Amino acid sequence: MVKSLVLIGFMGTGKTTVGQAIAQKLHIPQLDLDHYIVEKEHKDIPTIFADKGEEYFRRIETAYLKEVLLDGVPRVITTGGGVVLRQENRELMIENGICVALTAKPETIIHRVKKDKNRPLLQGGVEERVHTLLKQREGLYDFAPIQLATDGKKINEILKELWSHLDFQQLLP
Ligand code: S3P
Repeated sequence: MVKSLVLIGFMGTGKTTVGQAIAQKLHIPQLDLDHYIVEKEHKDIPTIFADKGEEYFRRIETAYLKEVLLDGVPRVITTGGGVVLRQENRELMIENGICVALTAKPETIIHRVKKDKNRPLLQGGVEERVHTLLKQREGLYDFAPIQLATDGKKINEILKELWSHLDFQQLLP
């Protein structure tokens, strides 16, 4: 079976940028799970959190993750940083995708996300929130067999490193 490539990683590790570049190079579609959720719910992520709470967001995140992983279309799926919180999601991704974790140092993450107003979990003190969440999520991204640090790297360097880890037979139709 041809699998999707699933990019996981904390906020600000570069999933969206790297995911778009991979999709372009491999000529396969890209799907961003957060964008998919926004489209399906007709609300942006901060509004979903504000109106319905994080627990609701996690529930629909799992439902839509399942939907896009199991529809038989191989693609690059970029996920939200918290998708690893549920064991069910981790199992779904490992069983139905080729999982790649992007990583970055806390300073890099803070630098990349500090001006962003679209991430409800970082409101009220980005630095402190990043450190707290990183601690809470320690180890949760480790299940991915491919781990790529993105600090200070150009997109082409990241792709080159990724290609060296990938078994293209699994990926391409
Ligand atoms: C979240 C990360 C966000 C988004 C939501 C929750 C998280 O996605 O899913 O705000 O819990 O880490 P990005 O990782 O793309 O910022």
